[in-house]
Amino acid sequence: MIAAYAAEDAERHIESLADLLIDAVDSGASVGFLPPLARSEAFHYWRGVIAALREGRRVLLVAAEGEFIQGSVQLDLETRANGSHRAEAMKLFVDRRARRRGLAKALMAALEDTARGLGRTLLLMDTRKGGEAEKLCESLGYTRYGEVPGYARSGSGELHATVFFYRELSGEGPRPAS
Ligand SMILES: CC(C)(COP(=O)(O)OP(=O)(O)OC[C@H]1O[C@@H](n2cnc3c(N)ncnc32)[C@H](O)[C@@H]1OP(=O)(O)O)[C@@H](O)C(=O)NCCC(=O)NCCS
Repeated sequence: MIAAYAAEDAERHIESLADLLIDAVDSGASVGFLPPLARSEAFHYWRGVIAALREGRRVLLVAAEGEFIQGSVQLDLETRANGSHRAEAMKLFVDRRARRRGLAKALMAALEDTARGLGRTLLLMDTRKGGEAEKLCESLGYTRYGEVPGYARSGSGELHATVFFYRELSGEGPRPAS
């Protein structure tokens, strides 16, 4: 089940959210952190997200089965006046135990519906070149508008390119359920 978490929900589930982030970083994901990620750092990260939720500039969607948080994704709402139609899809994580079952696709479809509902018709997303999320963005029909070599470091210390995508949502209906 996918649900939008308010700040209080995220606070209540901060342990599970920390587990999810640590799993993503341990899996080698390029999500801003390097492994091994200390639990205190994971908590610090989610507290920042909770503050952004409270300020109404972030949306957090969570896929859960009972108490197990399987995945999450965030929509960062541009706050500058000329970008009130724009948002960034970010921090898409699916726990390794729940991957390849269509959860990321379902989270992204829910995120796009949410974005449309908020009048955010231009979505941006970036990810490491050659990673699973690059294929995901392509399969969801996102348009690649560039790549920057050596953008982010991985756990091995190597620099990797990041690819940048956008998707215009205006005039489209919701994606069919997969
Ligand atoms: C990227 C990630 C979110 C995909 O989650 P998932 O639930 O396994 O993805 P889905 O099952 O919905 O797959 C969706 C599509 O993504 C692509 N994909 C996902 N995993 C893939 C893999 N291991 N190899 C190749 N393609 C892959 C495929 O196009 C797939 O469509 P298909 O199954 O029809 O071929 C997950 O691997 C993850 O959390 N990775 C670490 C975090 C990360 O890199 N996040 C992106 C940065 S924002």
